Amino acid sequence: LSAAAGAVRPFVGPGRVLAGAGAVAGVGSELHAGGADPKQGAVAVVADRAVLELRLVDPVRASIEAAGFDVELSAPVDGEPTADSVSALLASISGGPFAAVVAVGGGSALDVGKLLSLSLENDLDLSAGLAVAAEVVPGPPVLAIPTTAGTGAEATAVAMLWHAGLKRMFVHAQLVPRMAVLDAELVSGLPPAITAASGMDAISHAVESLLSTFRTPLTEAAAGHALAALARSLPSAYREAGADERFDTLVGAYQAGLALNAQVVLGHSIAYAIGARTGLPHGLTCAMALPYCLAHSRPAAEPQIAKMAELVCGTSDPRDFLRWVVGMNETMSIPASLAEVGIEADALPAMAQEVLERYPRPNHPVEIELQALEQLLARFLRGELDDAWAEAGIGAPVGSTGRGIGR
Ligand SMILES: NC(=O)c1ccc[n+]([C@@H]2O[C@H](COP(=O)([O-])OP(=O)(O)OC[C@H]3O[C@@H](n4cnc5c(N)ncnc54)[C@H](O)[C@@H]3O)[C@@H](O)[C@H]2O)c1
Repeated sequence: LSAAAGAVRPFVGPGRVLAGAGAVAGVGSELHAGGADPKQGAVAVVADRAVLELRLVDPVRASIEAAGFDVELSAPVDGEPTADSVSALLASISGGPFAAVVAVGGGSALDVGKLLSLSLENDLDLSAGLAVAAEVVPGPPVLAIPTTAGTGAEATAVAMLWHAGLKRMFVHAQLVPRMAVLDAELVSGLPPAITAASGMDAISHAVESLLSTFRTPLTEAAAGHALAALARSLPSAYREAGADERFDTLVGAYQAGLALNAQVVLGHSIAYAIGARTGLPHGLTCAMALPYCLAHSRPAAEPQIAKMAELVCGTSDPRDFLRWVVGMNETMSIPASLAEVGIEADALPAMAQEVLERYPRPNHPVEIELQALEQLLARFLRGELDDAWAEAGIGAPVGSTGRGIGR
């Protein structure tokens, strides 16, 4: 894969990553290695509700305590957190001081852990989001342990909350976890539906980052490895996973998280609009939107899509890649149309408006125009992917540098 010529962009990620079988046993020593000291205070542990019930947090806690830290466990995190639920959770924890925050769970718990750390030192407005350029003081270092594979939140500068029907984005370098621990044991029992949704979320990160005009050689390398690893492992992880496949999905999701340095494109914007109307899991909505995102991108991104086909299909036909994505969704019972998830035609104009205004994508390879977007959503409503693909040319390519986008 070759990067677009364009602006020089930063590439951020965790400073230390411990990956492999039994890695959770090393959480305590990683905290020390990452600069945390028991003299600075306790370790705040933020964990997903199911993960607590499944006792997946027990070995994490044991490792932290064995390393000499006290542990303060927050209230459990539920999926798809809201600004209100996180405010309540923050109120459930003492003011510290904390030597570190350890977050254990899917993207929801990792995002909450990241926001907890920053909230300890800053008066964040959780209903508003956070801009890249905001002046914030670093919180205690975060060690992130994903139990889905996954959002890649353990690698990103992002956290997300729902508020008043919209996704609120927190994007800041201070949200990148300082440490991450990847242990396949924590995802070995992931139910098929969660494996599918979170695995396709990771694939959509890799694919959309490759479509993004913000891509760089580093994001392309991460996305290429992620796509290959997930293509190899996700179908078998979905059926009955062996440890090797699970580990591949975890590493693939992490690398796809690194690829998010290039940001996502139109697919995620459509996914948020579906999620707001249906309450469906984030990964599932991303998986649904991905084929239509590819179709919309095609006028400017055929070479990239052809390279994705080379990676996973062994051909250079962009259409083969589209078929591969559709096949993955079908195999994992992911709905193929908006109508299947209860969205009706009269919802589309507001959806299109929301996508354009609330989740703009200056890095999408084709200019997103309202009328063309409504047409795309109408195709999506009825599952008319072939027509959407054939209608390539519905927007103007924004050019290879990704600059000068008229919005
Ligand atoms: N920060 C980022 O960079 C980033 C990127 C993408 C998505 N996200 C956010 O992440 C969230 C979605 O995260 P997700 O897809 O990981 O889902 P999730 O964290 O919401 O978890 C989904 C479900 O899986 C359960 N679960 C988690 N681990 C489990 C395990 N090991 N075994 C059994 N059940 C388990 C949870 O209890 C929950 O019910 C969304 O809010 C999305 O906005 C963040």
